[in-house]
Formats: sequence, structure tokens, C-alpha cells
Amino acid sequence: MVALAKGAEPSLAADARLTPEALGRLTALVARRAAREPYAYLAEEREFMGLRFTVSGAALIPRPETESLVEALLEDQPAQCVLDLGTGTGAILLSLLDRWRGTHGVGVDRSPAAVVVARHNADALGLRGRALLLASDWSSALRPVPTFDLAVCNPPYIPSDEICGLDPEVRDYEPRLALDGGADGLDPVRALLPGLVRVLAPGARAVFETDPRLWNGLAALVDQSGGTDIACLRDLTGRRRGLVARFAGTRA
Ligand SMILES: C[S@@+](CC[C@H](N)C(=O)[O-])C[C@H]1O[C@@H](n2cnc3c(N)ncnc32)[C@H](O)[C@@H]1O
Repeated sequence: MVALAKGAEPSLAADARLTPEALGRLTALVARRAAREPYAYLAEEREFMGLRFTVSGAALIPRPETESLVEALLEDQPAQCVLDLGTGTGAILLSLLDRWRGTHGVGVDRSPAAVVVARHNADALGLRGRALLLASDWSSALRPVPTFDLAVCNPPYIPSDEICGLDPEVRDYEPRLALDGGADGLDPVRALLPGLVRVLAPGARAVFETDPRLWNGLAALVDQSGGTDIACLRDLTGRRRGLVARFAGTRA
């Protein structure tokens, strides 16, 4: 059987007896999974970039396609100061800070409950000293000063009318705020770009995750906001999952 003590590493013990307490916990977990709750919410954790992140229903479960973006970023020189817009569990920001030991960063999320999860993860990974995690409507809590040489953003990008067709694991359990991209999936990007441009240092890069079907629309919005050198980052299936652009920045 699998040991079920809270907080214990799962371990196989074929000859162990299932205590009534463990049986009760197992039964409850099976019922939650049968109701299509994602496994990561049952386990309360998810591995991302080789790091263990606590997850809860307050935040999106970090996805493998997002790891592709982080891996692409890590091929470049470390940034000095990173902004993560819509940080959720903090997965993107904290995995960058874990690899780039001299980098500082700010993660923002409109969900105060998600920020609590991100702060917990920053503490658990020993990164709190270099990560400021704030509840904010995109960059509105930040002074409009050109600060960041890298911005990363995995915005909500599912068109509103597609949410009802998602798997129950996503539709019924992950926060709508983390999923809903408005009528065409690009409303969050429209909302965040004006503020983002004001906090980017001259020559900064911004990287967005998107649905491959939205890539051209995203590129047009980034172009209209002054982004240049727009290029695509592909996920493991070869699809256009990420967009990277450079911004000239504004004067303080
Ligand atoms: C797709 S999830 C990405 C989470 C995390 N960055 C990741 O990649 O796993 C989008 C995140 O944006 C946040 N969000 C949505 N609207 C926002 C807003 N107006 N301001 C700040 N964050 C917002 C959501 O709460 C959610 O955590």
C-alpha cells in the first residue's frame, strides 16, 4: 500500500496494514478524484522545472508548456530584475530566480489568495529575499519607473465561450481568473500592455505565453505597444506557445 501519513513521502509497504485513519483519508481522496478534482490539488504540490511547488485551488497548476518558456529563457544571460505578471504559484519567477542566483524579481497577481501561495513557495525554496510578491491588478501597484529588464507573463488566454468545453479538472477546479481571456482570449494582454511598457527598462525583453491560435493577434498587440524583434518560442509539440519581444522603454 502507499503510506498516507500527512506530509510523508509516499512509500510502498506491501505488508503494512491500512489503519482506519488512513483508509478514511484514502476514501476521501478517491472521492475527490472521482469528482474530477486534479491530482495536483489532492497532492497539494506539483513539480515544475525540477522544483516542488505547493498548489491550491487559489492558483493555476503550473503546466509543462510553461516549462518550455522558462527553459528558453534560461538559455540566455541572466536578467537583473524580472517582473512576472499573473504569477499564480510563482512558478515562472521562482524557477528563474532559483537558476539565476544574482537576479531579483517581482511577481504580481490580482488574486490575494494566489499571492499567499506564491509567498509560501518563495519561502519554501529559500527565495523570499529576492522575490517581492504583491497583490496587484497587473502592474498598477508598481511605480511607473523603467525597472525591469525582463517581463514574463502567462496571462489567462482561454476565450470565455470556450471555458464551458474544457475538461472538468480545469473548468470546475482551476480559478476562472487564471483562465478567462475574455471574448477573444486577448483581453488580459490588452489590459496589461500599457502599464507594462511603463515599467520596462530600455531594451527590456517581454515574454508571453499564449494559445498558438492567438499568436498572430498577440503579436499585433505587442507591435502596437512598441514591441520590436518579435519572435516565437515553440513548445515541445512545436507549436507557437511563446512570444518574445524587445521594448525600447520609456523615460522615468
Ligand atoms: C494562466 S495563470 C498563470 C499562473 C502562473 N504564472 C503559471 O504560469 O503557472 C494567470 C494568472 O494571472 C492572474 N491574473 C488574472 N487577471 C489578473 C489581473 N488583472 N492582474 C494580475 N493578475 C491577474 C490570475 O490570478 C492567474 O494567477
